[in-house]
Amino acid sequence: MRCIAVINQKGGVGKTTTTVNLGAALARKGHKVLLIDMDPQSSLSLHIDRIPQNESESVTHLLLEEAPLAPLVQTTAVENMWVVPADSALGGVEQVLANKLGREMLLREAFEKYDGEVEFDFILLDCPPSLGVLSANALVAADEVVIPMRAEYLSLQGMAKLTEVIELVRARLNPELKIACVLPCMLDVRTRLSAEVLEEIESHFGTLVSQFPIRANVKLAEAPSFGCTIFEHDPECNGAEDYEGLAAELLGEEIEWDEDEEAEDADEVEETELESEDDVEDEADEEDEEIPETLDEILAELEPLLDEVEQPPPQPATEPVNGESIVFRDVQLPVDPEPFRPKTIETPVDLDPHFHSAEMEA
Ligand SMILES: Nc1ncnc2c1ncn2[C@@H]1O[C@H](COP(=O)(O)OP(=O)(O)O)[C@@H](O)[C@H]1O
Ligand SMILES: [Mg+2]
Repeated sequence: MRCIAVINQKGGVGKTTTTVNLGAALARKGHKVLLIDMDPQSSLSLHIDRIPQNESESVTHLLLEEAPLAPLVQTTAVENMWVVPADSALGGVEQVLANKLGREMLLREAFEKYDGEVEFDFILLDCPPSLGVLSANALVAADEVVIPMRAEYLSLQGMAKLTEVIELVRARLNPELKIACVLPCMLDVRTRLSAEVLEEIESHFGTLVSQFPIRANVKLAEAPSFGCTIFEHDPECNGAEDYEGLAAELLGEEIEWDEDEEAEDADEVEETELESEDDVEDEADEEDEEIPETLDEILAELEPLLDEVEQPPPQPATEPVNGESIVFRDVQLPVDPEPFRPKTIETPVDLDPHFHSAEMEA
């Protein structure tokens, strides 16, 4: 069994979309997949139309009452895919468990005690947009993480914090934890900015970046309103193709690139890029001001503004174990990617203060 936490403390980056559609892609290949909704907003449960009727049907029951996992597992409309849904009471878990010893271990313990009929090949955890007790449980229970991120300006902001927390969990609680991949999502292949951001992400994460970035595709955004995955909504669309590719990549399957299609895609990008350059010019004419096109230009515009923002007080020493960088697989991860993470506008991460608590050190 492989347990994958789909994690990023930012909201709206594609975690839930990835959990549902990667899960469905794996299930279509015959693997038995369990999705667990770890987000009190219950987006995953909504997406596949499995809203719990009461708390006793939700993962909240497992975390607060230490209820066993097996009775919480529900079937979904997708063959080979099951779910443990979440309800809004899951939000209370952070506070209720604040002083509980071993609160980060609850999910892992539930996996160890699992005695249900179905033997899962994959468990995918849809994490909330925060780094508290719920995310800690996911990181402790997982073997791997997939980090979806939007292919947009400033998307690397906060990444240092996330890799630091992953490293902390790896060092103290879950030595086998690996980053399976960093997954650019909502990639707009028509814009030059998107291509530049993708390059920047690749320059920071190297081979950890998935070969299957998920392109922006309106069908992926529509599917939740039909309560289904992309494969029931539109199996032929780019979104379905991208998540199938990601599943193949995670399974280590040989990936056959359709070279003709690649070439076509490239042509399309060229054309649309030219079009969008025209668009930019048109808009600039209308508004009578220059719109920055490249990252360098945007940064140049932002710099004077950044100088005006007050410097935050120096942070207490939370340096990762090996100083300047974090090593995952053979890749050196920069702790402080520049220029995407200007310190002056780094927002504080809502890391649960108890997360570094004494018993975790023990
Ligand atoms: N590749 C994509 N193309 C277009 N829309 C997307 C894509 N991925 C996600 N979305 C939409 O973006 C929004 C945020 O995605 P979601 O998966 O809910 O993010 P998160 O779980 O990280 O908050 C949702 O409305 C979703 O439907
Ligand atoms: Mg979500």
